[in-house]
Amino acid sequence: MSDMIDFLKARRSVKPRDMNGNAPTESELETILTIGARVPDHGKLAPWRFIVFQGEARDRAGAVIADVFTKRNPDAAADDIARARASLTEAPLVIAVVSSPKTHPKVPPWEQQLSAGASALNIVTAATALGYGANWLTGWFAYDRDVLTGLGLNADEQLAGFVHIGKSDKPNEDRPRPVLADIVTKF
Ligand SMILES: Cc1cc2nc3c(=O)[nH]c(=O)nc-3n(C[C@H](O)[C@H](O)[C@H](O)COP(=O)(O)O)c2cc1C
Repeated sequence: MSDMIDFLKARRSVKPRDMNGNAPTESELETILTIGARVPDHGKLAPWRFIVFQGEARDRAGAVIADVFTKRNPDAAADDIARARASLTEAPLVIAVVSSPKTHPKVPPWEQQLSAGASALNIVTAATALGYGANWLTGWFAYDRDVLTGLGLNADEQLAGFVHIGKSDKPNEDRPRPVLADIVTKF
């Protein structure tokens, strides 16, 4: 158990640009998704779902993002369009966590959205525990309704984020963490 605590105390994200092409196996992917679906969920509503982008699917998603980017920025430079097209291509595996709230008399959408956040973090944690780098990212395209429609989201769904996953051999600097005294009070 103390191994688990040490792991959680040291976990940190890896930048997609530092990831190489080594992706989780299909069985590891199933493990990651299973753990993503094992989160606190008031009312057992499963108010989230996952979209997996691997291989050329990342390019098809990139084409959706680049098309919308060009529509929004008709004078965009070719480099910027290319960057939009490459949004999901640095990591070999990207899992979109979709917040998919259900109508319920007792469980408000806020709680269901929080549950989607828990799924995203569980996916990050599971991928890291399997020895991969992971990073939960959004970007403008995570909030653009035309992109979301193009990626298959329904009008009542939102994107909690894209979890980028891949091996990394690069040293990974930590970031400063909050001092507990600044964020904790006793009532
Ligand atoms: C909902 C959400 C969206 C995020 N989107 C971005 C993003 O677009 N770009 C970014 O650099 N970090 C983003 N982050 C932060 C990273 O996921 C991550 O927290 C940070 O890079 C380092 O934190 P860690 O080392 O504790 O994982 C986002 C975090 C959350 C919770």
